[in-house]
Amino acid sequence: MESQPRVFSVFFILLPVLFTLKPVLGLTECHFPALFNFGDSNSDTGGYSAAFGMAPPPDGETFFGAPVGRYSDGRLIVDFIAKGIGLPYIDAYLNSVGTNFSHGANFATAASTIREPVSALFQGGVSPFSLDVQSWQFDQFLNRSQTTAKQGGVFKDLLPKEDYFPRALYTFDIGQNDLTSGFFSGLTEDEVIATIPDILNKFTTAVQNIYWEGGRSFWIHNTGPFGCLPYVLDRLLVKAAQVDSVGCATPFNDVAQQFNSKLKETVDQLRKDFPLAAFTYVDVYSAKYSLIHQARKYGFEHPLRACCGYGGAYNYNQQVGCGGTIVVNGTDILVTSCKNPSTRINWDGVHYTEAANKWVFDQIVNGALSDPPIPLKKACHREAH
Ligand SMILES: *[C@@H]1O[C@H](CO)[C@@H](O)[C@H](O)[C@H]1NC(C)=O
Ligand SMILES: *[C@@H]1O[C@H](CO)[C@@H](O)[C@H](O)[C@H]1NC(C)=O
Repeated sequence: MESQPRVFSVFFILLPVLFTLKPVLGLTECHFPALFNFGDSNSDTGGYSAAFGMAPPPDGETFFGAPVGRYSDGRLIVDFIAKGIGLPYIDAYLNSVGTNFSHGANFATAASTIREPVSALFQGGVSPFSLDVQSWQFDQFLNRSQTTAKQGGVFKDLLPKEDYFPRALYTFDIGQNDLTSGFFSGLTEDEVIATIPDILNKFTTAVQNIYWEGGRSFWIHNTGPFGCLPYVLDRLLVKAAQVDSVGCATPFNDVAQQFNSKLKETVDQLRKDFPLAAFTYVDVYSAKYSLIHQARKYGFEHPLRACCGYGGAYNYNQQVGCGGTIVVNGTDILVTSCKNPSTRINWDGVHYTEAANKWVFDQIVNGALSDPPIPLKKACHREAH
């Protein structure tokens, strides 16, 4: 009896505090047991290498000490995401040797688009593993992993449990190659913009398929400022009038931003259509552009120059990539990396360094650039409060 008044007073003091803090306290961490990723080279952890040949050294040199199928000196944003939700790095689905899919799989491959390719990879086209194919691969993975795991033993150990699929995080980073391949095939800015609705219809179809397979938590990156990348800047003889104060090609970044605003609407629509699922739209464009724009402030230099490349204003040559060999005046020259990749943003003219990927991850992990503004670890929730 004596303790009762005290209990009451504590209750009444805490009650208003709990209500005030509810937006923050209300969301529990999701404890995602698995991660499934869909995308292009921005998040490829070995798919393209498994299918079409290894990414050469010096890829991987900073973190892995050897090439591991990533187009970077080290880890990608998707690696920091895996680590950020407490999981091991996820293996490429296409890798048939030494893989462990117990905590997810990565369906991304370099050169992938959302729409199906209209030209073959080896004729200068994009990857055959477009997003629809990646979603069919996921379908295969889901079904076969469950029948295979039933065999027990090592199979059970290497594959996700059935209940991981609805509780997993599904991440997307794709669309850049749909837009750049439009430009590279000769379309004008307006013509590329006119393809955006069809690209996003195909995106919706793929996400719907994964939803119907049981996916409930979706983390969707928008596309980056590819008008700041050497492979775009170098190819499209950029006229002074078309670059911004940073030196990025304005028409390309304009198209990226058009795509992103429509992607955001598409994600809004998905959120309306599927009330049981959580969709988080993540503005990686802003993070990447801030980094390039204010490189020095954040401890980086030469934001528009490739670390690993050869020649020209951007240290990039379309004929020879990072790790390749070019013959100059009768002498073979190996294309190697710059002295200090940790102070550089661009790795090979197309992709970002590990240091840049980590920096971008740090900007997006707490939800500051997301709609709704939900942190990564809480991305199974539909609303921020
Ligand atoms: C697969 O990876 C998980 C997570 O790291 C680990 O617990 C498990 O032992 C691995 N399985 C095998 C067969 O190596
Ligand atoms: C190649 O040779 C030409 C003519 O001798 C010379 O002008 C040029 O600088 C050389 N290029 C390189 C990269 O050494």
